[in-house]
Amino acid sequence: MSRRRLGAALLAAGLLSGCAGPAGRTAPAAPVTLQQAFAGAFLVGAALNQAQFSGADTASARLAVEQFDAISPENVLKFEVVHPRPGQYDFGPADRYVAFGEQHHMFIVGHTLVWHNQTPRWVFQDADGRPVSRDTLIARMHDHIASVVGRYRGRVNGWDVVNEALDDDGGMRRTPWDTIIGDDFVAMAFRFAHEADPAAQLYYNDYSVENAAKRQGVVALVRRLQAEGVPIAGVGIQGHYGLDYPGLEQLDSTIAAFAGLGVKVMITELDVDVLPRAVRQTGADVALRAAARSELNPWPALLPDSMQQALARRYADLFRVFLRHAGDLSRVTFWGVTDAQSWKNNWPVRGRTNYPLLFDRQGKPKPAFDAVLDVARRWAGPSNR
Ligand code: G3I
Repeated sequence: MSRRRLGAALLAAGLLSGCAGPAGRTAPAAPVTLQQAFAGAFLVGAALNQAQFSGADTASARLAVEQFDAISPENVLKFEVVHPRPGQYDFGPADRYVAFGEQHHMFIVGHTLVWHNQTPRWVFQDADGRPVSRDTLIARMHDHIASVVGRYRGRVNGWDVVNEALDDDGGMRRTPWDTIIGDDFVAMAFRFAHEADPAAQLYYNDYSVENAAKRQGVVALVRRLQAEGVPIAGVGIQGHYGLDYPGLEQLDSTIAAFAGLGVKVMITELDVDVLPRAVRQTGADVALRAAARSELNPWPALLPDSMQQALARRYADLFRVFLRHAGDLSRVTFWGVTDAQSWKNNWPVRGRTNYPLLFDRQGKPKPAFDAVLDVARRWAGPSNR
């Protein structure tokens, strides 16, 4: 347990800041932050953007430090940011992200090394714009992973090594990584990352894995990697949810299925979309887009109380499932700190006003925050599983 977590656990147990009761004994103080509330269960994290760890947005940075004990970089460690041109790395923003996490003794996640989005076209092409050979792409992937993971060796605690490599049907997604290298690009990425930092935890991360076909695809992929001796430490369930999807049963059995593989399970990008559905698919395929229509953006100024309550109930339900799996889940990370920052304001329709997180646009806790804390307070601890 890190110093920060130990402190949070002691705080949550009332050992550091409890108040003296009638018999002179220290009564446990009620947890007031997310990291205190879940200290005995799992880490609670948030994705940070540049403004938050570069000193421009001090209010939400302060909120992040107070509430969370883990961080993920929303964009700055993605290929296009860190390695925009051949041979040219720009580590400035990523260095600030890692330094922020270290300064506040947080669990630091690296996101993400091998993905088909936010990866420059040059990676897959030669000087004439033709697809590169398999060997060239493997060499580029190796160079990227060795440089990025190597730079933060011993400092970034866990990496989303491969992101979203599976299709909704559970088969391999036809990305340039897969079509040029073959399905074994996944195993290679993990081996390269392990070579660059043997102590880092290495994860596979994906969305919509609660659906049976994709869940089976993940299970098969992890089994394949394990059989080949590939150092995979965990599976990230992204957790881009709505008020009515996925079903709680589905979520419950998905966590159980992944835990049954003997790897860590994490919720890595949690948010709950409250707006009307603009596309048939759920999940987080950033290529999906829909045109703006006013009926798709019903609450541009304020979320009505009835919806706040529905969101609170939904978050409470989700966290009850998470706590049931406290021994299986190592971390629950929100994809953002406040509603103002969320990608859900721009996907799949640009310019909507969405309310997917626990803190509002001013950084104030919403009813959903209280509901989540309440679930934690009623939790009887790991022995109650
Ligand atoms: O880089 C440009 C910048 O130069 C320009 O000024 C700005 C103006 O709009 O756009 C910037 O790019 C945006 C980028 O975020 C950085 O802010 C892109 O348009 C925008 O599409 C991109 O969105 C990110 C998205 O991934 C793209 O793939 C979201 O912020 C980020 O939250 C989202 O995160 C993904 C996870 O990595 C993987 N799982 C799904 C999740 C949600 O899509």
